[in-house]
Amino acid sequence: MSVATLDRDRLTARASGPLAGVIDIPGDKSMSHRALILGGLAKGKTRISGLLEGDDVLRTAAAVAALGAEVERTGDGEWSVVGAEWRSPAGPIDCGNSGTGARLLMGAVAGLPIEVTFTGDESLSRRPMGRVLDPLRTMGARVVAAEGGRMPVTISGGALGGIRFVNEMASAQVKSAILLAGLRADGAVEVIEPIATRDHSENMLRAFGCDVERDGELIRLGERRALTAIDVVIPADPSSAAFPLVAALICSGSYVTARGVMLNPLRTGLLTTLAEMGAEIELTNRRSVGGEEVADIVARASPLHGVEVPASRSASMIDEYPILAVAAAFAHGRSIMHGLAELRVKESDRLAAIIAGLTACGVEAREKGDGLIVEGTGRPPRGGATINANHDHRIAMSFLVLGLASTQPVGVTGAETIATSFPGFTELMSSLGARIA
Ligand code: S3P
Repeated sequence: MSVATLDRDRLTARASGPLAGVIDIPGDKSMSHRALILGGLAKGKTRISGLLEGDDVLRTAAAVAALGAEVERTGDGEWSVVGAEWRSPAGPIDCGNSGTGARLLMGAVAGLPIEVTFTGDESLSRRPMGRVLDPLRTMGARVVAAEGGRMPVTISGGALGGIRFVNEMASAQVKSAILLAGLRADGAVEVIEPIATRDHSENMLRAFGCDVERDGELIRLGERRALTAIDVVIPADPSSAAFPLVAALICSGSYVTARGVMLNPLRTGLLTTLAEMGAEIELTNRRSVGGEEVADIVARASPLHGVEVPASRSASMIDEYPILAVAAAFAHGRSIMHGLAELRVKESDRLAAIIAGLTACGVEAREKGDGLIVEGTGRPPRGGATINANHDHRIAMSFLVLGLASTQPVGVTGAETIATSFPGFTELMSSLGARIA
């Protein structure tokens, strides 16, 4: 089920002239996982267009098929899923690099009377699963995990009760796992969110016919929890668009338009922050696609200045800190980003990876508590380093973007990980004039 891409193990980015052009970014990763899982649980045939065909999502497609749904690729980004009563798969479900796929699927199977073992790659095997396994246990699932709540994880589901859970970590994956488990639970299923996280699960569950209420910080599954197939259109992923847009801001003379990018307000923290840094970013052609507001985003090369990002914004840009840190390296003055504890448990320890990578490229960067400080000089950083992506696609893309405007080239090893979320990244950047090879 894998789709070929040209993203290679070792890539080097070199100083590039103005980047220019109009681009289409692949579909949103969060929505893609959810569309496949909900389609697999729903009655009838769900048609999905704009699906992200990156390795993370293809793993979820394979998982949903192994669990009993009929999953078919019918064209570029076009998929159909015929839902079924899920069964215990013949072997373990390998979620590859994907925390979202793993955690959402764990929730979905916990509600059903089946037994499923989940595995993942080296990066995913290091990541904590206890954050979803604990609430699933509270609901009544039987769970066996490796030491420290890590993978491999085996879940024997079914006969769940309700839960009232406070989402202290501000994790959309944890919230989603609970809601998915709750589809077949007996009793009230409530998640309280002191800080709102991306609401794609709630929106999509409603579109599939399930009652989900929101009352301030409280999210509650209603009485109607059955899912009926729908057509899902997935807009472009703002977390992927971030890379060419920041590249345009830092490469002088650039003018880049990313078409149809999703603007869910719980995902737009980076745009707010870049605007505060003085970035010339314009949103045009605002419209609605697949129940989400989208716009064409135009970015022009801009002089940037340092910024202080409050912790309260972190959930709305949690995946964007590596590329924001790159923008901050080109800015004039100090940038301070607060509330980044969660970055330590992403595909890699991103706080450490950002600091090590920036330091290697001649940029002063350091931790402060759970925050990050980047000292921008207003001049292009030196670059001239090779960064190991360490199974982290966003670290790989961020440092390649840095290399497009640094004095010396920047190499990235382990760059094949880019295909987990952004297949065709290198070709798309090259089409704008970026020198990445
Ligand atoms: C995601 C939630 C976030 C984000 C991830 C996708 C989702 O993770 O980092 O890339 O689709 O729900 P957390 O829930 O761990 O914050």
